[in-house]
This record gives sequence, C-alpha cells and structure tokens, in this order.
Amino acid sequence: MHYCSDATFDEDLTAISAEFKYYYECLMAPNARSVMSALKRMGELETVGMVATGHGPLLSHNVDELIGRYRNWSKNKAKAEKIVGIFYVSKYGDSDKLVQAVASGVSKTEVAVEMVDLSEDVDLQELREQASRFTGIVVGMPPASDQKIQTALSTILGSVHDKQAVGLFETGGGDDEPIDPILTKFRELGLKPAFGAIKIKDTPTESTYKQCEEAGTDLGQLLTREQSIKHMKSLDADLDKALGRLSGGLYIITAQQGDVKSAMLASWVNQASFKPLGLSIAVAKDRAIESLMQVGDKFVLNILEEGNYQGLMKHFLKRFLPGADRFEGVKTQPAENGAPILSDALAYVECEVGSRMDAGDHWIVYSTVYAGKVSKPEALTAVHHRKVGNHY
Ligand SMILES: Cc1cc2nc3c(=O)[nH]c(=O)nc-3n(C[C@H](O)[C@H](O)[C@H](O)COP(=O)(O)O)c2cc1C
Repeated sequence: MHYCSDATFDEDLTAISAEFKYYYECLMAPNARSVMSALKRMGELETVGMVATGHGPLLSHNVDELIGRYRNWSKNKAKAEKIVGIFYVSKYGDSDKLVQAVASGVSKTEVAVEMVDLSEDVDLQELREQASRFTGIVVGMPPASDQKIQTALSTILGSVHDKQAVGLFETGGGDDEPIDPILTKFRELGLKPAFGAIKIKDTPTESTYKQCEEAGTDLGQLLTREQSIKHMKSLDADLDKALGRLSGGLYIITAQQGDVKSAMLASWVNQASFKPLGLSIAVAKDRAIESLMQVGDKFVLNILEEGNYQGLMKHFLKRFLPGADRFEGVKTQPAENGAPILSDALAYVECEVGSRMDAGDHWIVYSTVYAGKVSKPEALTAVHHRKVGNHY
C-alpha cells in the first residue's frame, strides 16, 4: 500500500485498512484472477510468517487476516460473469498507466478485467479464444511497425463478434496504429462502441488518466445495464413504495485534485456526528467522483435551495462524456480546500473523508467538516421526495 508512518510493521490494522483496500481496488482488483492463482501458489507454503511488501509497512501481525481479505475480494471479483479483456503492449508509450486507469474504471462496476499483454509471446489460438469469450474488448493501440503485434491485432479482429462492446485508446508511443480506422473495423463487425476513441496528443496528465478511468466505467456500466434494470424491477412493490418514503435534501458534491475535478448530485446525505462534526454520504461505487473521495481527500458539499435548484440539478445530471469539464457554464469560486463552491448554492461545507464503509453497491463515506458558510440566511434547503426506494 502507499502508506508511510514511523511503524515498520502492521501492528495498527485500523490505521492501514483503508490504504490497504485502496491499493487493492486500484491495482489488484483488475487482476483478481492472477491474485487467486498467486494465492494458490502461496498455499503450498506451510506458513507465511511475513509479507515483505515493496512499500508500506511489512505485514507480520495480521498476515492471515490481510491475505484473507485479498482472497475474499478477489473471489468476488473473479466470479463476475462479465469480463472485459484489455489488449495492450506493455512498456510501449504510456500504455501501462493508461491501461491501469481503464482497468480500475471497469473494476468500479461489477465487471471483471483480464489484461492481455501482446508484447509477450502470444499463442494465437489462445488469443482467438479470449477475443471471442470476453463481453467487452478494449485495445490500447499497439505500434504500427511491429509485424508480430499486427498479426495479433488481426487475430483479435477476426475473432470478435457483434454481442460485444468495444473501446479503444491511443498509447502515446509515437508510432501507434491509427485509431479511427480500427474503430471503424470493430463497428463494421457489429461491436458497440462504449466510449469515443481516446486520443493522446501530449504526455498524459492526471486528467488523461481520469478520462481513461471514466471511459472504463462507462464500458462496465454498458455491459451491466440490463442486469441492473432487471434487479430494480425485481423488488417487492410494497416494500419499494414504503422505502420510497425516506427522503433527503438535494446537494452537489464537488472536488478538485490538481487538474482533475468532478461533481455529482446527491441526496443520500446525513449529519452523522456532533463530536467531531461529521456527515455521511452514500456514493455509488461506480461514480466518477468516487475516486476523489478516498480517506484523507477533501471536497465541498454544496447545499441547494428550495425553489431554486432546478438549473443546477439539471446541469449536473447531464450525461458527461469521459473526462468532460462538469463545471462549464457554472458560476464557482474556490473553497479553502481547492474544491469549487457553487455560487448559486444556499450554503456549503468543507469536508475531509475520515472513513468508508462498504455497503453493497455504495460506499458510505464518512467525513468530518471543518468550515462552511450560508449565503442566503432566509432560504430553506431543497427537499427531495421520492415515490420508490429503487431510485434516488
Ligand atoms: C435526485 C437524485 C439524487 C441522487 N443522489 C445520489 C446519491 O446520494 N449518491 C449517488 O451516488 N448518486 C446519486 N445520484 C446519482 C448521481 O447524481 C448521477 O447519476 C451521477 O452523478 C452520474 O454518474 P457519474 O457522476 O458517475 O457520471 C442521484 C441522482 C438523483 C436524480
């Protein structure tokens, strides 16, 4: 994990748990099947006394517990019915980090990921099997001049079918296979593009990686859409209506980290503690802003005004393309923590994420609040009444 303290070992499990999970989510979840096979090999050892990680504390006090967590998380991921295959060439251009970003975006949904590195000696028969088995196909553009890799690309094109979704991204290697003609070929074969071709003009920045992550999430959501609708419809009608009587306010959460910013409309927000002052927000695991709400991250909760929230609500509920600027045309000013405050909101509070609880398809994000202001003292908070519990 990316965690640094004076402790050499993992004696304080509570202190490291969030970082341990975050590292898993970003880097290991997309490789859950490989984690399972590594764990199987580790099972051949009689006892594991210590896991000497490359960074973060050495694991010696909670070895069984932490290995157990990896096993449980990976088991859940590996049994996902739908799998996105990402074909790429490692150590070419900026492919490795871009691939990780797409993979972690897909992993935010209930879809598993398998990475296929075309620079290794690929067995064309196996490649054919993979390209036809995956539910979604992602290709990081390989070098146009490498004959072996070109054969692999043709094999993929010859094995895919029209029940699959597809997404392509450039890898910034300078000699990338042109992306548009390849996307056209996939289209002609009947595959449904899940996101527009991602073109890499300059050295990727954090916002390029965020764009790739959001594109990956869009693909995962496309592949699970029918399943989610079916689940919503399967709820008992009376229970659904009764649950719908729970109501909340209307809020816009905003966050900014470097050149990456995001926002979302939320109503599952509640004050959760007096000492310290804190609140909870239920954030769907596949939300774009979820990546900016990790333990220690800061954001702003903008509170909308009764009778004057429609404009902001409509704006932030638009379907934004991966990496789009969600604040275009919206009046903002920066908060102390750098996140945008919406000038038309009734009030705002600045928050810092303290912990996150896993709640099925949402994270319950608990945050402490340390600053805030009301801009319209006479106005009331917008309230959101619902009819059913299977929608917000
Ligand atoms: C009235 C209303 C309330 C919502 N409240 C929440 C919420 O509390 N948590 C959440 O994760 N999404 C909530 N949503 C959904 C998101 O606002 C919205 O669909 C989301 O920003 C789009 O996903 P994306 O930001 O990942 O692109 C709500 C939507 C509506 C219409």
